[in-house]
Amino acid sequence: MQDQSVTIQTLERLTTEALSALESAADSKALESWHSAYLGRRGSVTQMLRRVGELPKEERPAFGRRANEIKVELEAAYEAQAGVIRAAEMEKTLAEGAIDVTLPGRPVARGRLHPSTQILRRIYQIWADMGFQIYRSRDVETDEYNFQLLNFPPHHPAREMQDTFYTTDEDVLLRTHTSPGQIRAMREAVAKNPDNPPPIRIALPGMCFRSEQITARSEVQFNQVEGLAVGIDITFADLKGTLVDFARRMFGQNARTRFRASYFPFTEPSAEMDVECFVCGGEGCSVCKQSGWLEILGCGMVHPIVLQNGGYDPRRYTGYAFGMGLERQLMLRYKIDDIRYFWGNDARFLEQF
Ligand code: DAH
Repeated sequence: MQDQSVTIQTLERLTTEALSALESAADSKALESWHSAYLGRRGSVTQMLRRVGELPKEERPAFGRRANEIKVELEAAYEAQAGVIRAAEMEKTLAEGAIDVTLPGRPVARGRLHPSTQILRRIYQIWADMGFQIYRSRDVETDEYNFQLLNFPPHHPAREMQDTFYTTDEDVLLRTHTSPGQIRAMREAVAKNPDNPPPIRIALPGMCFRSEQITARSEVQFNQVEGLAVGIDITFADLKGTLVDFARRMFGQNARTRFRASYFPFTEPSAEMDVECFVCGGEGCSVCKQSGWLEILGCGMVHPIVLQNGGYDPRRYTGYAFGMGLERQLMLRYKIDDIRYFWGNDARFLEQF
């Protein structure tokens, strides 16, 4: 600021100058430099007010009063101008960044669970409600666990049913069923308490693999859910009651079931359970091949040799086991006529579930 004497007149002149300078401050940057030029610590108005002491004593009160008024006035003018500038700048950015809200949105592709996962989760829920734990076992097995310990000796004809993917290591294979998990679960329980192994109640889900020619009816992989209960005094009545209860929870309270004698090396006696065809209600249709019944699982009392191989003394313990295939159930339920859809990854198929 040029050297000016301190008088009310110079103060007024300075004020007029400040106000007109403010009017020409067009953006927030100019506004800020205006503020520091006049009202900042080194601003000319501020400096002028500091020099009140240079006035004769009697003029000081009037000068001070006017000076305070002016400060308030200038601050108010500054705020008003700041408001105008902010609004203008906002308008400008809005105009620059304008989007066309009439453009249609891009749809988000929503995923969903694979039908096998959906039915698996339902089955877990049912078995969990019935007091079974979910037990996971490995997909890659040894011949010993997949067959021998389950009472399939080498070259036993029952192996014929389960065309197997062997690896270059002669003993290592992809499990052909979830049953080897029975042995693993039993051995794990026995390891925890060898003298008095605890009772077992597990549901054992997972992918199984068979070296099949792929056709509408057979795939090289599919899901099974195995079940195993081992304990004292478990009888065939427990097996039947439990599986009938499962069928009612799965297929509805009125679901009728029947058991047919069957053969598996790892159970004795063995059976297969059918449910009344849920498509035709038992009258006979193409899904049940006019029989009125659908086979859904194999089951039986755990063979004493298998209990023994698991580490449970067959003189003290008994147990039952069952195994069901999932994709087959889904095919029956939804009348899916080709099993290859399950792993074909065709969205048109998957989106229907
Ligand atoms: N593992 C048999 C299969 O894949 C199914 C099965 C039958 C499992 C009877 C069982 C059972 O636990 O008791 O063909």
